[in-house]
Amino acid sequence: MNKLYITVAVLLAITIFAVRSDETPSQQCPGQDFDNLRERIQVLPCGKSQCKLRKGTNTTVVFKFKPKNVVNELTNDVYAIIGGLPLPFIGVAGMSACTQIKHADTGEPAPCPLEPNKEYVYTNIFPILNLYPQVPLRVHWALNDGNTDVLCFEVPAVITAASKKNQAS
Ligand SMILES: *[C@@H]1O[C@H](CO)[C@@H](O)[C@H](O)[C@H]1NC(C)=O
Repeated sequence: MNKLYITVAVLLAITIFAVRSDETPSQQCPGQDFDNLRERIQVLPCGKSQCKLRKGTNTTVVFKFKPKNVVNELTNDVYAIIGGLPLPFIGVAGMSACTQIKHADTGEPAPCPLEPNKEYVYTNIFPILNLYPQVPLRVHWALNDGNTDVLCFEVPAVITAASKKNQAS
């Protein structure tokens, strides 16, 4: 009996560890406070303390959010902060996010307007271009409805060199 309990406890601990080590080290945007930020947000690939964005590969950003009010429009307010200066991600910054939203329960596309207090999933896949500088930075990711951020997070990241086979792209 005891052995069973120990086995279960060990398996549980391993599971929790595996899930936690998968967690994106996201942080609140200055002056904002969203619930359960770390549970909502996944940046892939990412490391424990920062996301490693390799040139010539795609980065995926997925998160769940629940608007407080009706959302008629939604814009990707996304950039990298390098030495205090914003660098927009090409093909992401300023684009409408309405086509990137799905219903959390059914997975069906959820074009704007979005309803309040419903859970939605946002997915964006974007390339890390070779022209980006290879430096440590902070990614600032917000969805803005024209007035306020429906969700916002920042994550420490670094852009790394392309692997040899991707250098041409
Ligand atoms: C990145 O995503 C685009 C669009 O989905 C795809 O065409 C491309 O092959 C992907 N690139 C890599 C390196 O996975």
